[in-house]
Amino acid sequence: MIPLNAKCQLQLNAHGQLQHFLSIDGLPRRLLTEILETANSFLEVGGMAVKNIPLLNGKTICNVFFENSTRTRTTFEIAARRLSADVITLNMSTSSASKGETLLDTLRNLQAMATDMFVVRHSHSGAAHFIAEHIYPQVSIINGGDGQHAHPTQSMLDMLTIRRHKGDFENISVAIVGDILHSRVARSNMLALKTLGCPDIRVIAPKTLLPIGIGQYGVKIYTNMNQGLQDVDVVIMLRLQRERMAAGLLPSEGEFYQIFGLTTASLASAKPNAIVMHPGPINRGVEIESTLADGPQSVILNQVTYGTAVRMAVLYMAMQGQTIHCQLQQENTH
Ligand code: NCD
Repeated sequence: MIPLNAKCQLQLNAHGQLQHFLSIDGLPRRLLTEILETANSFLEVGGMAVKNIPLLNGKTICNVFFENSTRTRTTFEIAARRLSADVITLNMSTSSASKGETLLDTLRNLQAMATDMFVVRHSHSGAAHFIAEHIYPQVSIINGGDGQHAHPTQSMLDMLTIRRHKGDFENISVAIVGDILHSRVARSNMLALKTLGCPDIRVIAPKTLLPIGIGQYGVKIYTNMNQGLQDVDVVIMLRLQRERMAAGLLPSEGEFYQIFGLTTASLASAKPNAIVMHPGPINRGVEIESTLADGPQSVILNQVTYGTAVRMAVLYMAMQGQTIHCQLQQENTH
């Protein structure tokens, strides 16, 4: 048995296997590496003539998205189908949640339909943890993004993108640029890069878009694009998350673009073979020059492709971990 620390206790079963996927925080390196390796092996399913394998045959997965999403929701759905699971995607704006039903009541009703796993996106930080703590123990919860807190599957697809293009994490410099304050992707990526051994993690942002306590992530902070991008191997751009932004944090989008936008001129400070990433949706001319988004250094659409494989890996691993967790519980009660 592997001793667990408090942060990952809820996420891992007694054998140290993934059971819920809520956050990168506290997860060991070997588990992140296992997700990347499993995802790598699932990538080929997307290239097969018949794009499914029977690993989750007979399992029911429910996508419960309380917030807008294109890539995450669709790739979770495709991932579940490629593993032969039955998948239902609920539009929460037309569900009973809009009639005042509590989050847990909604989920418990769906659970009563014998759902095995929920993928949840919610605007409140901590929503996925809350559900995992209160839902029936035989169900797995996967966090599809909660408020400003965490977006662990996006982070793992970003890590797979970096690994496939740059080989390993131990000799590279990575810059994360833009609205760090409101970004669950930035938080998850800083944690994942650190856990995977990246020695040089940089964030580049105006001071008003940096979270309090950024120092705890062990990253270098820059407010100058050219200095921050100097000789980096990977540039991760972020969207200005207006929906979460209080007034007055930015003078104007135009000024932000001039100082923190990724342009041909600013990208010239990075290594010539640096890759350009973005979780999407991209705002052309706001955080990234349009030609760069489509240019040879951009791997933005590769990220989406890898996203399906990473989500297959997480669904598969969590379902295995959950099954073993339930078996152990049954043995203990007999
Ligand atoms: C990100 C998200 O939702 O946090 N996008 C995504 O999942 N593809 C980033 C964003 O919305 O800017």
